[in-house]
Amino acid sequence: MTRVFSGMQPSGEPHLGNLLGAWVNWVGMQDRADCIYCVVDLHAITSPNEHDPATLRQRTVDLATGMLAVGVDPERSVLFVQSHLHEHAECAWLLNCVTSFGELRKQPQFKEKSEGRESVSAGLFDYPVLQAADILLYHADEVPVGEDQRHHIELARDIGQRFNHRFGDVFALPKAIHPTAAARVMDLQDPTTKMSKSQSSEKGIVRVLDEAKKIEKKFKSAVTDSAADIRYDRDEKPGVSNLLEIFAAVTGREIDGLAAEYDGRGYGAFKGAVAEAVVERLRPVQERYAELTDDRGEVARVLERGAEKARAIAAPTLASAQEAMGLLPRGEA
Ligand code: TYM
Repeated sequence: MTRVFSGMQPSGEPHLGNLLGAWVNWVGMQDRADCIYCVVDLHAITSPNEHDPATLRQRTVDLATGMLAVGVDPERSVLFVQSHLHEHAECAWLLNCVTSFGELRKQPQFKEKSEGRESVSAGLFDYPVLQAADILLYHADEVPVGEDQRHHIELARDIGQRFNHRFGDVFALPKAIHPTAAARVMDLQDPTTKMSKSQSSEKGIVRVLDEAKKIEKKFKSAVTDSAADIRYDRDEKPGVSNLLEIFAAVTGREIDGLAAEYDGRGYGAFKGAVAEAVVERLRPVQERYAELTDDRGEVARVLERGAEKARAIAAPTLASAQEAMGLLPRGEA
């Protein structure tokens, strides 16, 4: 059976980009694959902005709750917290030793996050190797992610391939799976940059838990352009195109059909319709989230069981990698 792995950082409240770029696929893949989903807290501590420990702890629980609320089913899938397994950090060390400084230095996300800063942590630089460890430890075939993670998944594949070539076949080689619409949801105020937990302004980001009124206001003030036509053109009409992608992703309809239906009716009506569709899409998620918030014991139990099931896969993979590299097994001489 196909094995799927993906993760999300507890570095801020999840937004529409996370939902449409990743979570929708996470949930859908449960019907046809063996899925493992992870709250990657070790990645969240690499942020160049200093994090607050109490907030990180809370966000970790909140994000796991969010994953359950969107439909990650703990009966069928594994859901766990990255730091609950020491295997991730340990495997990352092994992979560090088959990764070159040069290939990490040219990673687009590292360039973006470190730009203009006097000092960034070695953790931020090494971030993609930990991500490779996440994926390779589970022999994942497919990794459902948004477009922004493409390079990280390619690097994981390269590192896995290099390791296998030097030490023998230990790792499966993963490929990224992107959604057909909204693989890159853009900021509502600046449709040329992606919607981001860390970089978007309050008005530019729609959070999964935002209340209806707030969502409507944000879409009403979304930046479009001075023309009035509604058509899909990422270069000429980035704002309208972003709204069309969101509209298509939340309704399951085709972009062309939506553009034809709303063209000529004005941006006001169009934005209102997108907002309404987003509110409808988020309503059941928000309701389920509220129920789960009342039962934190259940979330803790899911994560505990998840960590056990994850370790049953990750520990033997790490042991195989250690053995392949020539590290002496304990008790042998
Ligand atoms: P993170 O936490 O930034 O984002 C989680 C998921 O949401 C997607 N995403 C978007 N998709 C469309 N439009 C956007 N504006 C948008 N913003 C975010 C991301 O592509 C991602 O799928 N490095 C990863 C976390 C990670 C991981 C892994 C992912 C760590 N280990 C192993 C897959 C496999 C990240 O920072 O995602």
